[in-house]
Amino acid sequence: EKGGYEHFMLKEIHEQPKAVRDTIMPRIRDNDIVIDELNMSEEDIKNLKKIYIVACGSAYHTGMTGKYVIEDLARIPVEVDLASEFRYRNPILEKGTLTVIISQSGETADSLAALREAKKQGIKVLGIVNVVGSSIAREADNVMYTWAGPEIAVATTKAYSTQIAALYLLALRFAKVRGTITEERFDSLLQDLCKLPEQIQTILDKNVTQIQYIASKFVAVKDSFFIGRGVDYATALEGSLKLKEISYIHSEAYPAGELKHGPIALIEEDTLVTALLTQESLYKKTISNIVEVQSRGAFVLAVTNEGNEEAEKVSNMTIYIPTTDSHFTTSLAVIPLQLLSYYVSVGKGLDLDKPRNLAKSVTVE
Ligand code: F6R
Repeated sequence: EKGGYEHFMLKEIHEQPKAVRDTIMPRIRDNDIVIDELNMSEEDIKNLKKIYIVACGSAYHTGMTGKYVIEDLARIPVEVDLASEFRYRNPILEKGTLTVIISQSGETADSLAALREAKKQGIKVLGIVNVVGSSIAREADNVMYTWAGPEIAVATTKAYSTQIAALYLLALRFAKVRGTITEERFDSLLQDLCKLPEQIQTILDKNVTQIQYIASKFVAVKDSFFIGRGVDYATALEGSLKLKEISYIHSEAYPAGELKHGPIALIEEDTLVTALLTQESLYKKTISNIVEVQSRGAFVLAVTNEGNEEAEKVSNMTIYIPTTDSHFTTSLAVIPLQLLSYYVSVGKGLDLDKPRNLAKSVTVE
């Protein structure tokens, strides 16, 4: 059932081109995005005042990426919240708010409770869910399924990637209807969106040997940081969670600009810092953060766009991702981070499909 792979996680990592394609393609018709299951008229979309994205863990991280992309393209304010916080703090949900609950299993207790809270306040809930017929799918007003297929490994990979894809679809659809991007811009974004599955495949085909080598250097690491700005911070959160949950290496994600407000105190000889640089307009700022941690002895792995030699010059190692629109880089940059945590865990000989203390679906609060 592992299809020749040593672990479910590796199989699922390799299933991502198909999972992302299966999530995107049925919603593209005649060079347009059609999301029937959204059940929102153009008028409803134009009247949106706010979007609340509520989820737990990795699904919350997809919401963070979604916030950057939706706000920038569709100019709708997006608040992202953890379900376990949202449900207990009497959230302000006004007319014109759309609540989006993101969940792979559709059974996460806090996410389900958050859904019920929103409905109680009379706010429409859209579920972005992977498991068909799950509790969240049944109780949400509308459901946009992510077609990742069954995910067995506890650490999510392909479901995460399909959630990101679903949020890109929403962002583009909203932007088009609201007229916040031009037709030409929409067309070029749509083209880039459709290329993501093959670009993910390219990373899987080309980067594994390099990542295995890098992972071998990480096995003895005790502390690690992931840094990035803008949407790269959202990707950093996911990279950091993946590493800690399956390799048990202590890891934290920080917006790169926050380093000097505290965490830089922890940087010492050989602290591992993974820096994400996929936003060209922010290269220089993050490069100066790399230089700051380097000069304190950190070992820096850069994950950046093809051609960013400035980042390579100041880093110990560099992984390049293929070129896409700056809004879509999470989909590509996360792949080497998943592989890295996978191979570090393999190197440590851990039971990585079932990491200690974790359950696939958290049905208790
Ligand atoms: C991390 C991971 C968890 C889940 C979280 C939410 O790899 O899998 O953080 O993302 O428990 O689960 P779902 O999406 O089922 O609500």
